[in-house]
Amino acid sequence: MDICVVGTGYVGLVTGACLADIGNRVICVDVDKEKINKLKKGIIPIYELGLKDLVKRNQKRKRLAFTTDLREGLKKSTIIFIAVGTPPKQDGGADLTYVENVARQISQYMTSYKLIVEKSTVPVETGAWVKHTVSVNNRHKVKFDVASNPEFLREGQAINDFMHPDRIVIGVGSKKAEELLVKLYSPLRAPMVITDIKSAEIIKHASNSFLAMKISFINAISNICEKAGADVEKVAEGMGLDKRIGRAFLDAGVGFGGFCFPKDLAAFIKIAEKLDYNFALLKEVEKINEFQKKLLVNKIKDNLWIVKGKTIGILGLSFKPNTDDIRFAPSLDIIRLLRDEGANIKVFDPQAMNKAREVLKKVKFCKNPYEVARNADCLVIVTEWNEFKKLDLKKIKKLLKQPLIVDGRNIYNPKALKKAGFKYICMGKS
Ligand code: UDX
Repeated sequence: MDICVVGTGYVGLVTGACLADIGNRVICVDVDKEKINKLKKGIIPIYELGLKDLVKRNQKRKRLAFTTDLREGLKKSTIIFIAVGTPPKQDGGADLTYVENVARQISQYMTSYKLIVEKSTVPVETGAWVKHTVSVNNRHKVKFDVASNPEFLREGQAINDFMHPDRIVIGVGSKKAEELLVKLYSPLRAPMVITDIKSAEIIKHASNSFLAMKISFINAISNICEKAGADVEKVAEGMGLDKRIGRAFLDAGVGFGGFCFPKDLAAFIKIAEKLDYNFALLKEVEKINEFQKKLLVNKIKDNLWIVKGKTIGILGLSFKPNTDDIRFAPSLDIIRLLRDEGANIKVFDPQAMNKAREVLKKVKFCKNPYEVARNADCLVIVTEWNEFKKLDLKKIKKLLKQPLIVDGRNIYNPKALKKAGFKYICMGKS
């Protein structure tokens, strides 16, 4: 099939490259000339496992092309995915300016039937607005449909998530739109949920909010475990074996970050508010998530007594391992809180150093974890990169001013660390 993907951010690029790889001809459109020029040369603006090879392979086979010209993108394509950004506004709601712009332009340029599919995460009723926008600008009365097909890609495993999804959600208002999308996704052989557009839009926000709620739930349990002298990991194991609960997303720690959960949660609270429902449960999920970062800083304070003038080494800046993404990363808030206390900060991350340099000031960037540990009063784990699980702890102990590790992701065995002579503080267990 001939597909056009508008927006070459995270979602658009992965979607475009994967759809090309399963045998479609895909043209990706973006207004950013520099980005498109780089993509044409096979230079990928984001760090995502396997994406570079996928893009190059499909460019070579002439199944994947890039352009800044939406008109060119629309010419041959029947299905148009809108995958532009929906950044958060000050009030937490999603800014849909880009979606509206693209919808308007599509309607002005289209000359034959188009199926316009929302891929970006958007509030419920966006589909109806896209349909309205296209209708009012559709001077030549070209036939079109609108559909919602939310993505559930995790950064770091986005290609695998695309190729082997748990489910594909298709929100449509016509048989033709349904048939086109079912045909497009049939090579993936995944369960499909076919529904109306509004339900599909809500599935996305409900899923992400539910996962965020699971994380905040286990973090709340973790705090109870700490006070009661129990072990949150065993509690999660015991809960998770119940098939109705499941073990996934029950890892206690410094909370969730990234560009999806915090943004989608805030947007869903706002959507509910507009629909005259106070989603207090989700507000609590946010509060617990904020608290976890302060809790980690308090643990550091409790063990250092005075933080002012002390040197604190931070391992991990990205919001989770296997990505260089630091958007809404817990590390940023934790570093800010520690700096407010007057601490000197040293940091290292296997992938996120370049991005962090753009936003973190007055912080010493180190070449490796050992340089971070040298003469630090405390070593803090914020992201659970595999590399940190395999550190030479004897060497770390020698380098630290005092053998104190505060672990916000529970990557070590407390008994082993204590035996090795460390004061080891973690989350929800001792
Ligand atoms: C998420 C959703 O999983 C995905 O379906 C959606 O499309 C985009 O948002 P992503 O943001 O890439 O994906 O990250 P994810 O792997 O889900 O982790 C989110 C955050 O939760 C991370 O900061 C992670 O450290 C944290 N987390 C996750 C926990 O603190 N505990 C857990 O048990 C799981």
